[in-house]
Amino acid sequence: MTVNAEFEHPRLAAVYDLLDPDRSDLDVYLDLIGEDGARSVLDVGCGTGVLACALAARGFQVVAVDPALASLDVARAKPHAEWVRWVHGDALAVRGLGLAGFDAATMTANVAMVFLDDEDMAAALRAVRESLAPGGRLLFEAREPRLLSPELWTRESTWSRRGLPGHGEVEAWCETERIVGSLLTFRWTFVFHADGQVLTSCSTLRFRSREEIATLLEAAGFSAVELRRLPRAPERAFLAAARRS
Ligand SMILES: C[S@@+](CC[C@H](N)C(=O)[O-])C[C@H]1O[C@@H](n2cnc3c(N)ncnc32)[C@H](O)[C@@H]1O
Repeated sequence: MTVNAEFEHPRLAAVYDLLDPDRSDLDVYLDLIGEDGARSVLDVGCGTGVLACALAARGFQVVAVDPALASLDVARAKPHAEWVRWVHGDALAVRGLGLAGFDAATMTANVAMVFLDDEDMAAALRAVRESLAPGGRLLFEAREPRLLSPELWTRESTWSRRGLPGHGEVEAWCETERIVGSLLTFRWTFVFHADGQVLTSCSTLRFRSREEIATLLEAAGFSAVELRRLPRAPERAFLAAARRS
């Protein structure tokens, strides 16, 4: 299991939420799960557990899975984390746990884009489908493929320098390294001015069209596929919703 430094390095996992404190992008998930009358949720690629803890605080039964131990350690220290079952593993790990019957499953932020090959994405979708109750709903988002460009992330457009409680001044920026077909590789650089440490994290994401995502969902046994604009970021990404047939 390869995990990016951004999520796996303890120092980077510790500043992840502080560098990106506005998580209003998660509201749509909380709203849709609440509207659906769900009681149990599987959060795949939970990272530092923002959504999982918010769901637990609202009384949902939550199992949250991520391959990055350092991010899970951050998650476990949060309020309401004690009500979440944290699982160290990737999307396929849910298969081995004998967990099933979830009313909803989520893959928030870039999680659905880390599966670079269609075979990997299909395997992840099948594993999530098996963990859902009949009629249970999977929700995830994907960035708009028309935004795939070297200009998407540049040092100028992403640079920040902030004083973070307990960490001192941290400078961060993201640069696109290369684009090959629908794969975009980018590198985050983090400078910890308290001691001068420089850490980098390189990641690749797959940009898929709505049609590609609908085809993958249907092939994995989902139906009622809906692809809608993300309310808080309609230009940036779209939301996929589908039910276990
Ligand atoms: C951009 S972060 C999003 C974290 C969280 N969902 C959020 O909204 O803050 C992507 C997450 O996907 C996780 N990830 C990477 N590969 C994965 C895989 N094969 N299965 C499940 N999660 C994976 C990473 O460890 C990371 O925590």
